[in-house]
Amino acid sequence: MTTIIAIASQKGGSGKTTLAVHLATRAAVAKHESCVIDTDPQATAATWSDWRGDFLPVVVTAPPARLNRTIESAKKNGVDFIVIDTPPHADAAAREAIKAADIVLVPTKPRAFDLAALEPIADLVNFAKTPAYVVLNAVPSGATVLAEEAKGTAKAMKLDICPVQLGDRAAFHRSSAKGETAAEIDPEGKAAKEIEALWKWLNKTVKKAKKKK
Ligand SMILES: Nc1ncnc2c1ncn2[C@@H]1O[C@H](COP(=O)(O)OP(=O)(O)OP(=O)(O)O)[C@@H](O)[C@H]1O
Ligand SMILES: [Mg+2]
Repeated sequence: MTTIIAIASQKGGSGKTTLAVHLATRAAVAKHESCVIDTDPQATAATWSDWRGDFLPVVVTAPPARLNRTIESAKKNGVDFIVIDTPPHADAAAREAIKAADIVLVPTKPRAFDLAALEPIADLVNFAKTPAYVVLNAVPSGATVLAEEAKGTAKAMKLDICPVQLGDRAAFHRSSAKGETAAEIDPEGKAAKEIEALWKWLNKTVKKAKKKK
């Protein structure tokens, strides 16, 4: 059975592509046939893959109108773990990805403007009834109050919160800029540990989501 994760948020720069490539790479390490479908016309995940060279995961680009066909052909090619990266400010693209997915991750920085931008995604996931989790990203160290406030705002929009949050860590942008991941440049670092915790949580949560389907 193929697992499909959609990464969506209307806000630019919230960490969608970073999350997509880190999770797809972690899945490849776990011996999944893993693939990123990049539906962003900016093709940032695909650029990351160009920098990466011939290493896994596979990254393919697809406009939102071709998403379903691309998923089907990935499955035919034996892909069993798909992460869909989506563009910011694009309702249609997010809607298609959310419809196709088993679970949606919504990365957001814990800041008022970013949190306000969760509303359209909250509407989309509530309508599609796909399980969705807000992932607080780039949380400054020691910002407990900020994170708690953000959780409150998300809850008010009926969005669930992922218990694992990602800190504001140089390893995320330093690695991505080289076509790598945080674990590849600093395996013992905090960023790598956070992705590991997120991966474990994701596996459990996807299992539960699939049982309910
Ligand atoms: N947790 C983090 N700590 C530090 N830097 C981060 C973190 N997450 C993302 N970044 C950096 O923030 C920038 C934006 O991240 P990214 O490209 O993943 O966001 P995005 O949501 O995909 O953006 P867009 O909406 O433009 O597609 C990148 O330079 C990335 O390396
Ligand atoms: Mg992106």
